[in-house]
Amino acid sequence: MTAPSSWPRVEGIAYGGDYNPEQWPREVWLEDVRLMREAGVTLVSVGIFSWAMLEPREGEYDFSWLDDIIGLLHENGISVDLGTPSVSPPAWFFHQYPDARVTDARGTVMGFGSRGMASHASPEYREAIARMAGVLAERYGDHPAVVMWHIHNEYGVPVGEDFGPRAVTAWQQWLKERYSTLDGLNAAWGTAFWGQRYGEWEHVVAPAATPTVANPAMKLDWARFTDDQLRACFTIERDAIRAHAAQPITTNFMAHQSWNVDLWKWAELVDVVSDDHYLWSPDPDAHVLLSLAADLTRSVAGGKPWILMEHSTSAVNWQGRNIAKRAGEMRRNSLTHLGRGADAILFFQWRASRSGAEKFHSAMLPHAGTDTRLWREVVGLGSDLARLGDVKGSQVEAEVAVLYDWESLWAHELEWRPSDDLQFRERMRAHYERLWRDNVTVDFVHPSRHDLSRYKLVVAPSSYLMTAESAAALTEYVAQGGTLLVDAFAAAVDEHDAVHPGGFMAPLKDALGVTCDEYLPLREGDSAQIVMDDGTALDFDVWAEDLHLHGAEAIATYRGGPADGAPAVTRHAHGEGHGWYLSTRLSTDALADIYARVYADAWITPAGYPEGVEVIARSGDDEDFVVVVNHLDEDVRLPLRGTDMLTDHASAGDLTVTAGGAAVLRTPVMEPGGDA
Ligand code: GAL
Repeated sequence: MTAPSSWPRVEGIAYGGDYNPEQWPREVWLEDVRLMREAGVTLVSVGIFSWAMLEPREGEYDFSWLDDIIGLLHENGISVDLGTPSVSPPAWFFHQYPDARVTDARGTVMGFGSRGMASHASPEYREAIARMAGVLAERYGDHPAVVMWHIHNEYGVPVGEDFGPRAVTAWQQWLKERYSTLDGLNAAWGTAFWGQRYGEWEHVVAPAATPTVANPAMKLDWARFTDDQLRACFTIERDAIRAHAAQPITTNFMAHQSWNVDLWKWAELVDVVSDDHYLWSPDPDAHVLLSLAADLTRSVAGGKPWILMEHSTSAVNWQGRNIAKRAGEMRRNSLTHLGRGADAILFFQWRASRSGAEKFHSAMLPHAGTDTRLWREVVGLGSDLARLGDVKGSQVEAEVAVLYDWESLWAHELEWRPSDDLQFRERMRAHYERLWRDNVTVDFVHPSRHDLSRYKLVVAPSSYLMTAESAAALTEYVAQGGTLLVDAFAAAVDEHDAVHPGGFMAPLKDALGVTCDEYLPLREGDSAQIVMDDGTALDFDVWAEDLHLHGAEAIATYRGGPADGAPAVTRHAHGEGHGWYLSTRLSTDALADIYARVYADAWITPAGYPEGVEVIARSGDDEDFVVVVNHLDEDVRLPLRGTDMLTDHASAGDLTVTAGGAAVLRTPVMEPGGDA
C-alpha cells in the first residue's frame, strides 16, 4: 500500500458539499449531476448517513445504488469523498444490540429515530463500524472517483459522553492505565476532600448525576476519557480503511463550536484536517467567530491547507431564530475561509431535503430550484473559485499566537468558579476580535506543543488551567525576548484542577512579576474603571483581582470597584522580553488601548485598514495572494497593489472593494519589510 497523500486528488480549489442521493429517486440524480456541473462542483461527500441502505439486514449488503451514483458522478467528472456511516447505525442494529445505546448522565437510555453515536464502549458497535469501514474500503479503495474518506460525522455531537455500564468499565480501565495505583488516583483527584477516597477500582463510578457538585478533577478526567474513547472509535475505522485504501482520511471537526474533542490530539490522526462551520445567528458579527474558527482549524492542521467540509449557503434550521444570509454573505464567508487557509469550500448540503428534521436548512440547490438568488450565487461562487486555483497550497503566516487549550476550556466550564460571568468563549472572542479588527493575523497554539519563539507576541486568554510545563514554556519565551499578554483568571490550577502551590499564577510569577492574592468578581450589572498611566480611563465589568506585585510595574490602576486603587494591568521585564497581565474584563473596544501598548513592545504595526475589512495574506512559492473581505456597508479604498483574480482588474495601490464585496489579489512575493 502506498503512503496516503495529504490532499484529495481534485484540481484547484475543491467546491461542493454533502450529497444524499438516497433521499431522491434516480431521475433526480441525473438533474443533480447536470446542475453540479453547471455550478462547477468538483467534490461531494456521499454515504455519511447511508448505513441502513448499505446493510439493510445484518450482514446483507446492497452496494448497487452506491456503485451507480459513484459511477454517475465519475462520468461527470465529480470526485467523491466517501463517508462511513458510523454516526447513524440502522434500526436493526439497536434492536439486535440494545446495550449499544447511549445512556445519559441521568440514566436515560437514548432511543432510535434520530442520529448520534452509539455507545463508544460497545464491543458490538466497535465491531460493526470496523466491518462496515473495511467492506467499503475494499470495494471503493481503488475507485478512481473516490479521492478521500470521511469517517463518521462531527465526533462529540449530538452526544459524546456515555454513562452506560460498559462505558463505566472502560473508564475504570482507563483510570488504571493513567494512575497505576489507587493512591495515585486519590492524590490526583484530591479525594481527601468530602470523604471521597477510593479503596477499590470498582468503586469508581462515572461522574453522572450527583446530589451536588461532583469532584472537578474526576470530571476533567472524564472529559479526557470521553475524548479518548471517541478517538479510539475513529482509529478503528481509520485502520480498517487503511488496510485496503490509500486515499487520504479525514473526519469533520467543528473548531470552536464543539467542546468535547481536543483537536490538537485529533489532528494527529487524520491525513487532512476538515472543519464544519455555521454562523451563530444571535451574533450580528458572527463572521468574527467564523474567522476565529478558520484560524483555529488552520492551526490544528499545522498551517497546512484544510477543507471547509460544511457551511451553509443561507439559514440553518437548528437555532432559535435561523437568520438567512443576505446577498453576498455566502461569498464573503467562503472567501474568508479560503483566505485563512481552506483549499476546499463545501456545504451542507447539495440539495435541500424534502423530509426529515432538516427541511428548513438551506442548500446549494434550494427547494425553489434554480430560478433563485441563492442558486445564482452558488453558480457565481463556483466560477469565482475556479479562478482561484493558483491560491491552492499557499500558506498563511502569522506573527502573533493565541493560546488555545481544550483542557483549560473543560476545566473552566466546571461548576463553582468565582463568577459565572467570566467565560472562556467570551474572553477568547474579545481578544481575537481585537486582533481581527486590527487585521493582525494569528495562529492558535498550545504552549506545550508548539515552538513559540517564531511569534512576536503571544496572547493567553482563558488560561485558567495551565500546567507547570506550559508556564515554563511561556516564561522561557519571554526570557528570550517575546512579548506575552496574559488575561485574567490565568494559571489558577494545574492539570488536576488543583490550585498551584504558592497560589494563583505562581507558575507565571517570573514571567509576569505578579501573582493574585484573591479574585474579586463584581455583582451582575456592576462596572467600574481602570485608569492607564497616561490618564485614559476604561470601563470594566465582571471581574477584578487583588494583585501582588513581584517586580512588575502597574500600567493601569483600578478606580472604583472592589480593587479600588490597586494595580489592574501590569508589565514586567523578564530577560529580553516583557510579560503583561490584564486582571480584569475589558470589552474589545477598551482592549484597543492595552493592545496599542503591547504591540509597541512586540514591534507590531497594524496596517490601519478600516475595522470591519479583513485583509489576509497567503504566501505561495512564487507569488502571494491577498484576500480582502469587506463586511462594511460602504465601499472602501485600500492601498493595496496587485491583480484581482476575481475580475482581472489591476490595482496600483488604490484598490476599491465595494460594500459587502471581496477581492483576491495576486501580488509578487512580499519582501521582508512589506513592499513587493
Ligand atoms: C452539521 C452536520 C450536518 C447537518 C448540518 C446542519 O453539524 O454535520 O449533517 O446536520 O449540521 O447545519
